[in-house]
Amino acid sequence: MKGELTVVVLAAGEGTRMKSRRLPKVLHGFAGRSMLEHVLAATAPLNATRTVVVVGHRRDEVTAHLAEVAPEAVPVVQAEQLGTGHAVRLALAAVPAGPGNVIVLPGDTPLLTVETLQRLAEQHGEAAATLLTSVVPDPTGYGRVIRDESGTVVRVVEHKDASEDERAVDEIAAAVYAFDHELLRDAVTKLSTDNAQGEEYLPDVIGILADAGHRIGAVIAPAAETAGVNDRVQLAAAHRAYNDRLLEQHMRAGVTVVDPATTWVDASVELEADVVLLPATDLHGATRIAEGAEIGPQTSLTDTVVGAGARVERCVAIGARLGAEVTVGPFAYLRPGAVLADGAHVGTYVEVKNSEVGPGSKVPHLTYVGDATIGAHSNIGAATIFVNYDGVAKHRSKVGDHVRIGSDTMIVAPREIGDGAYTAAGSVITSDVPPGAMAVARAHQRNVAGWTLRKRAGTPSAEAARRALGSDDDADADAEEG
Ligand code: UD1
Ligand code: CA
Repeated sequence: MKGELTVVVLAAGEGTRMKSRRLPKVLHGFAGRSMLEHVLAATAPLNATRTVVVVGHRRDEVTAHLAEVAPEAVPVVQAEQLGTGHAVRLALAAVPAGPGNVIVLPGDTPLLTVETLQRLAEQHGEAAATLLTSVVPDPTGYGRVIRDESGTVVRVVEHKDASEDERAVDEIAAAVYAFDHELLRDAVTKLSTDNAQGEEYLPDVIGILADAGHRIGAVIAPAAETAGVNDRVQLAAAHRAYNDRLLEQHMRAGVTVVDPATTWVDASVELEADVVLLPATDLHGATRIAEGAEIGPQTSLTDTVVGAGARVERCVAIGARLGAEVTVGPFAYLRPGAVLADGAHVGTYVEVKNSEVGPGSKVPHLTYVGDATIGAHSNIGAATIFVNYDGVAKHRSKVGDHVRIGSDTMIVAPREIGDGAYTAAGSVITSDVPPGAMAVARAHQRNVAGWTLRKRAGTPSAEAARRALGSDDDADADAEEG
């Protein structure tokens, strides 16, 4: 292809078949991207001179989304959706005329690949029009590609306008086209609305150009790529197909995926070689996993970075950073700002938020670590709570290196526990603990001797106590100790 290239994405339709109150059709998506983003990602490597997106239905939302994900794309408004041909006519009115080419594609074809679009562009060369087609088992609803005896494409007929013979054709038009810019600009002024839907059909341009003696090319693409998404059933199928494709790429690059059927990854996720993904694992956003880490089963990571050789099992993490050889889970919840240094361990029923767990430190069981900094090689006993919230403000606490926090300790922030300090189990720590000190902050124990024999006489507990104490002790077992 020579000269300027204009890409036109059609995204003005209502998408009634999605039955969505909350989102316009092209903003529905999967794998962390809207359908519109998927389409724009596939066209990006074409290095077009300009990209125009025709918006109409709920255009404020679509335009706002575009500004976020593809600020260089130019929205053009089609206030009334009078057909795909009308949409292209408006798009061209918004760009300068001149020699070059135009690639048109719908906003609801999210499985198109860069390779297929590049093939379309290459084969188009100097032709008047080149359309992307697929041979499909069930062509219902699609435009059919009509060829003459020599196999040359002569027109496209919409399903609703097709005769019985034409409906029997199983080669469909994908609504993806490359056109000579000047010929297209002229042809879209000749579209009629005399058809089943009363719309200006873009596919009619093929017949107009062919009738005028121009050369029409066709590129056949796998049906899996040209599938249009009009409803939620097709959306789920597209997601599945896209996910299979992504996982295949990861597996070919050295990632082990034990169960591709239950493993879901976003397009943006990065996985190094020798990562192992166990069943029922889903990875989202800016998640990055380094070499040899094993993730899952039943683990969901969002915007989370995992170091080499780490092991994350039955865990939910959002915005967390895990160093090398870290072990997490089973059943841990890592929230934004959780930073686990190399070799750290966060175990079962542990929640960590906006906190650092230092190198080699362990938080093994039943603990909440909120707004804390824990140094190196410290151990946080089971059922410890970093009490970070006083009902109005959050406060931070700091635990030094080689600290031993006893089980069931409440560390009432803001607190500092010095290097090498201990806390006694069950303590409520409301003062700082100097390095090397043992903090005991709990009531002294007292034993009321013989209480069960007197207050629970006749119960199995009293009988057990009597046996343990010996027969004649019971009468005067009333002294208190402790
Ligand atoms: C369209 C094609 C059909 C093709 C199929 C492939 C037409 C007339 N039909 O049918 O040949 O086989 O795609 O999936 O082109 N849009 C606008 N403005 C409009 C109308 C539509 O921007 O006035 C946009 C829609 O938002 C959508 C795309 O164009 O992204 C296609 O429209 P849709 O209604 O989905 O067409 P199909 O019936 O799928
Ligand atoms: Ca469609």
